[in-house]
Amino acid sequence: MYRLKTFHGLAVSLTLILSGAPRAAEPEINYDESKVPRYTLPDPLLLADGNRVTDAATWRERRRPEILALFEKDVYGKAPGRPASLHFKVDSVASDALGGKATRKQVSVFFTDGESGPRMDLLLYVPNVAKKPAPAFIGLNFDGNHAISPDPGITLSKSWMRDDDETGVKDHRATEKSRGASSRRWPVEMILDRGYALATIYYGDIDPDFDDGFRNGVHPLFYKPGQTKPAPDEWGSIGAWAWGLSRAMDYLETDPDVDAKHVAVLGHSRLGKTALWAGARDERFALVISNNSGCGGAALSRRRFGETVRRINTVFPHWFCDNFNAYNDREDDLPVDQHMLVALIAPRPVYVASAEEDRWADPRGEFLAAQAADPVYRLLGVAGMDARDMPAVNQPVGEAIGYHVRSGKHDVTEYDWRQYLDFADRHFRRVARP
Ligand code: GCU
Repeated sequence: MYRLKTFHGLAVSLTLILSGAPRAAEPEINYDESKVPRYTLPDPLLLADGNRVTDAATWRERRRPEILALFEKDVYGKAPGRPASLHFKVDSVASDALGGKATRKQVSVFFTDGESGPRMDLLLYVPNVAKKPAPAFIGLNFDGNHAISPDPGITLSKSWMRDDDETGVKDHRATEKSRGASSRRWPVEMILDRGYALATIYYGDIDPDFDDGFRNGVHPLFYKPGQTKPAPDEWGSIGAWAWGLSRAMDYLETDPDVDAKHVAVLGHSRLGKTALWAGARDERFALVISNNSGCGGAALSRRRFGETVRRINTVFPHWFCDNFNAYNDREDDLPVDQHMLVALIAPRPVYVASAEEDRWADPRGEFLAAQAADPVYRLLGVAGMDARDMPAVNQPVGEAIGYHVRSGKHDVTEYDWRQYLDFADRHFRRVARP
């Protein structure tokens, strides 16, 4: 009963938040730039012992591990590594998918021995005409693999999903109506035409997105004897989703059609937070894209503009580790801020994208975090971002740190994808061109 109530509360809050409107009425949510408090960002190039980082080796060997450990302990939680019994099974290969444009593979990624245990389903499209192995984009999806394209060959997910008339989810299960439900956000053919493969996984395969005290999802697979939930410094759901992306990367490294050295990880919103954390932890991701990730993603927590640490920890208590709660209304005491998450990706290219009307995610705070990561890129000999001021809408800026604020709402649009493809072309030196 209690569980049901919790879930119901979450669903109601979600509806409120996703609709965007009512938040402005709540006094603790600030949308007024002049009311952003003064703050000082922690210096990514200052070691815990007070010494300054002046060379790449000190960054790599000392400061980067320090920052990573701080994010693990206080924000996302520690996650396990690759399970010894992780294994893959290619369930289907169709070389004539999407009118002959692509080869579609569906792969089961098993987290434990045998095939009865928990697993995630990976969908992979590889362009048929492009040079192979092909560089790839990988991203978790919100509505099941079958929702990214109307392609009837995609297996309908059997996993738990939030009921939704629009996406055809009934009694927590996808239906035929769910096919292609989020295809607007996944321009599969455009990606393939540009010579990239695309891999995706339903995020709920890794951990269903509601607070059940971590009984479902991958967390229990790693409990020590007697443990019933993650310790205060252990992974929440974002940590688990990011871990799942690394397990998908484990598979991609074995697939001869994919150039595993050129894989870009991307995500929208909560999955943008996840993409940043996955890219920060796992250096096999060659490029990282955060689409409207906001609080706990690319936006600076200290600005307290739009969504705040308290708000996110209250409405989504399962996303971060329990230690993060200590910073509710105490953002200035955080040993990190989100520019340091971006900096962990250096010198690999990273793209942060905002949307003008997505004030909940604090576009300016996202820009400032991207900009404040620049000194780390420079130290490593790479031009990050030159822009001193936030650019006008639809004017992408930056070198290894890309940024744009698109006109419109919280979403992933074709405009966003075009920037990501151009950015990947630039940094992967057009290895993607057929
Ligand atoms: C809510 C939440 C955000 C999150 C978003 C999403 O709005 O407050 O932090 O990014 O959901 O994932 O769609």
